[in-house]
Amino acid sequence: YGTSKINEKGHLVIGGCDTVELSKKYGTPLYVYDVELIRERARGFKNTFASLGVKAQVAYASKAFSSIAMIQVIAEEGLSLDVVSAGELYTALAAGFPKEKIHFHGNNKSEAELRMAMEHDIGCIVVDNFVELELLEEICSEMKMPMQVLLRVTPGIEAHTHDYILTGQEDSKFGFDLQNGQAESALLQAVDSNWIDVLGIHCHIGSQIFETTGFVLAAQKIIEKLQEWNEKHLFTPSVLNLGGGFGIRYTEEDDPISPSQYVEEIILKVKEETRNYGLPMPEIWIEPGRSLVGDAGTTLYEIGSHKDVPDIRKYIAIDGGMNDNIRPALYDAKYEAIVANRADAPVEELVSIAGKCCESGDMLIWDIQLPATAKGDLLAVFCTGAYGYSMANNYNRLPRPPVVFVEGGEDQLVIRRESLEDLIHLDIPLGTSLKKS
Ligand code: LLP
Repeated sequence: YGTSKINEKGHLVIGGCDTVELSKKYGTPLYVYDVELIRERARGFKNTFASLGVKAQVAYASKAFSSIAMIQVIAEEGLSLDVVSAGELYTALAAGFPKEKIHFHGNNKSEAELRMAMEHDIGCIVVDNFVELELLEEICSEMKMPMQVLLRVTPGIEAHTHDYILTGQEDSKFGFDLQNGQAESALLQAVDSNWIDVLGIHCHIGSQIFETTGFVLAAQKIIEKLQEWNEKHLFTPSVLNLGGGFGIRYTEEDDPISPSQYVEEIILKVKEETRNYGLPMPEIWIEPGRSLVGDAGTTLYEIGSHKDVPDIRKYIAIDGGMNDNIRPALYDAKYEAIVANRADAPVEELVSIAGKCCESGDMLIWDIQLPATAKGDLLAVFCTGAYGYSMANNYNRLPRPPVVFVEGGEDQLVIRRESLEDLIHLDIPLGTSLKKS
């Protein structure tokens, strides 16, 4: 994975750093990000657009992993940024991210969130529904400030992925329906506004998608509508945002195409369709999250107890679990792992990796071949960079692990480990809040 290697001691090395040393320095569990790989992925997307001569913006979907340092890397690579909450926006602003390159998403942005976006004059708001459209219009006219928007449409596409991460189908909580006239009404309402400037159309069909079919179909359906709106309403979008969702390889069973292949096929289709309809080629925006950071992240755990169920299974327990990676429990997601302090040892036994949470469903990996392990060994679970830390939680009052960035043999702590004090930081002992008031 990425720039990972095995050194002469048999230790897994990521970004030039020995993972055994990292675990000694920072403790476990520990998220380690290979920053060079993030940069490589970012450049891969940008270069593909450049080589096709297409005007584009690649926005990192920061829900995959948002932290100040992460957003600084994205800024250094010249990408744009997708945020979905006041919290993600606040993090982006704290990182000094260029505000004109921030896009605000979400199906239920609060008034406070919309005002915050307006006050910071961010690049655009991706409007999801009529309630938001009206609220935004009110805020803009009150503040006497225009705002650029994309209208999020639901093209009616079924991408082949897990139900919970499927978003482009008709029966979805997101966006204006493209087929039943909702999107057209939204467009007319927005175009009619004195303050709202419709930059273009947005859609996102789902996540962890392995084929281009869904993207191509979505683009086709949208462009067909754009042709209709062009004739009826003289509307031509400057931007077509086709969302994120490009799949990555978690295990050998996954067979995604490369990011550049996704982009190339999508662009070819958009070029062809717009040419057929005599429409100008819009600027193409995409919003990858997982495919920028997923395989750059590795989680290191220390192996603790084990339990044999004779003739059935051997459980090996680690010092983390569904609190730092909820994906196996939530989506039945699969991961690969190795023993990082003996990365060159041959595999010897079939085991299952259990988390430490008080819940039978807290299993990180079922049935994996590993060398024989003992308490104190270090387990490296790969591809945890997307939706790992960002979905981490304090179930069982476990502190969230720290995050370390590694690059060129240097390591830097970018999120510190939560302490036990942090865990009770928001608590108010019984009686004291009443006494104070
Ligand atoms: N744009 C929009 C509007 C989105 O809703 C998402 C993801 C993305 C972009 C980025 O998608 P990506 O390139 O990362 O696939 N927690 C789930 C994934 C939820 C994705 C939500 N939206 C998981 O762990 O698999």
